[in-house]
Amino acid sequence: MNDADLIARYDGRVPRYTSYPTAPHFKPDVGSAAYGDWLAALPEDVAVSLYVHVPFCDRLCLYCGCNTAVVRGDAPRRAYAGLLEQELRLVATRIGRRARLTHIHWGGGTPTSLPADCLVRIGATIRSLFDVAPGAEIAIEIDPTELPIDRVTALAQMGVTRASLGVQDFAPAVQRAIGRMQSYDETAQCAQSLRDIGIGSLNLDLIYGLPHQTEASVCGTARQALALGADRIAVFGYAHVPWMKRHQSLIPESALPGPLARFAQRRAISEVLEREGGFMVVGLDHYARPGDAMALSAEAGTLQRSFQGYTTDAAPVLIGIGASAIGTMPQGYVQNAPGVPAYAAAIKSGSLATIRGIATTEGDRLRRSVIERIMCDLQADIPANLRTSALEPFAADGLIRWDGKRVVVTEAGRPFVRNVAAVFDAYLTQGNATPRHAQAV
Ligand SMILES: C[S@@+](CC[C@H](N)C(=O)[O-])C[C@H]1O[C@@H](n2cnc3c(N)ncnc32)[C@H](O)[C@@H]1O
Ligand code: SF4
Repeated sequence: MNDADLIARYDGRVPRYTSYPTAPHFKPDVGSAAYGDWLAALPEDVAVSLYVHVPFCDRLCLYCGCNTAVVRGDAPRRAYAGLLEQELRLVATRIGRRARLTHIHWGGGTPTSLPADCLVRIGATIRSLFDVAPGAEIAIEIDPTELPIDRVTALAQMGVTRASLGVQDFAPAVQRAIGRMQSYDETAQCAQSLRDIGIGSLNLDLIYGLPHQTEASVCGTARQALALGADRIAVFGYAHVPWMKRHQSLIPESALPGPLARFAQRRAISEVLEREGGFMVVGLDHYARPGDAMALSAEAGTLQRSFQGYTTDAAPVLIGIGASAIGTMPQGYVQNAPGVPAYAAAIKSGSLATIRGIATTEGDRLRRSVIERIMCDLQADIPANLRTSALEPFAADGLIRWDGKRVVVTEAGRPFVRNVAAVFDAYLTQGNATPRHAQAV
């Protein structure tokens, strides 16, 4: 089957499966009371991962799909930093002892848009309330154009070990159309300043499917990304959802590549990173240098899928701090109020800010483990009660091998791995596209 036919058949709108059940299925019946009980019931010595969300940026990129906003001045940032500390204390009090943190991730938005002293103080508050395990990864997302020297110093004081730099695309015409000017040189300088303070692990984010991109232009960006010497590169398909993100309606839709062009761009980037860069492809959209922890984890079949995408973090519990942050508990998922005003009101009143979630059933957890293995390893043993003839069309199209017990996604099937995973999603009406998700490829 040729690319056009495959895309016509499978480019429906499917979730990215950063959780299962996925966030649109969270319900308000799981609120702060349930979350408080779940925190109190955490098993002794369980490994915990912490996610801190900062929904602020110094600039608003037109393509951005993240929960963020531009705020002017320090006052709202300082106020928000104070709320993060309060929430950390509320969570630690509910847990009732010092939990063991094996992984900390600062995401956004742009976490370094908080004042330097706030970042340092929050980092210290985390260490005062939790036992940060020796060797814990402390990762942070960074906009390379917005990293003043005082933030670099703060990152060193916070003990950051890994930084993710947003690149997206280096071609000026693309950058103009997406409202994100960023030169190669300033990106390289940012990477160097992080290395200078001992942050040895660098990730880069690239996007294909942006206005004016061509196969040749994305290959150029991929080569420049290789020259930056990162350990991991994430390659996302542009999710154009202007009905959810109003600013995306300023993206010139007539300059957006169509599905076939997107598919070709994805493949072209992949070839540069794998053949020229020697990177190993991991899951749906990540590339890692051989020997990097993510490459090793993918080879060992221990990679995990979390709200940040792929991770080597094996902690079974994720505590989300900040507006919109999602947590994973043994009993299910919880999400904080997405807007800062509602989040602030809850925390100021001394309550957790949970507004929705879902208590997972045993059936959910079984499906989640199958979906996670498919998304991470591109293969999974399918328990007898989940074996289904719905996989047969994928096998007939060469996207999977299926012997009735074990599914193995082929290289041709990799771009469609979300569609294969979706077969095991009991919440998704198969064949009934929903506008809540972006296109599959
Ligand atoms: C929180 S941002 C990264 C940190 C920092 N704010 C920056 O922009 O450099 C996380 C990443 O999400 C990706 N992203 C944002 N909006 C997207 C969209 N609409 N479609 C696909 N990827 C998107 C970008 O690659 C971006 O680097
Ligand atoms: S891409 Fe990054 S800097 Fe741009 S608006 Fe989104 S979160 Fe902010």
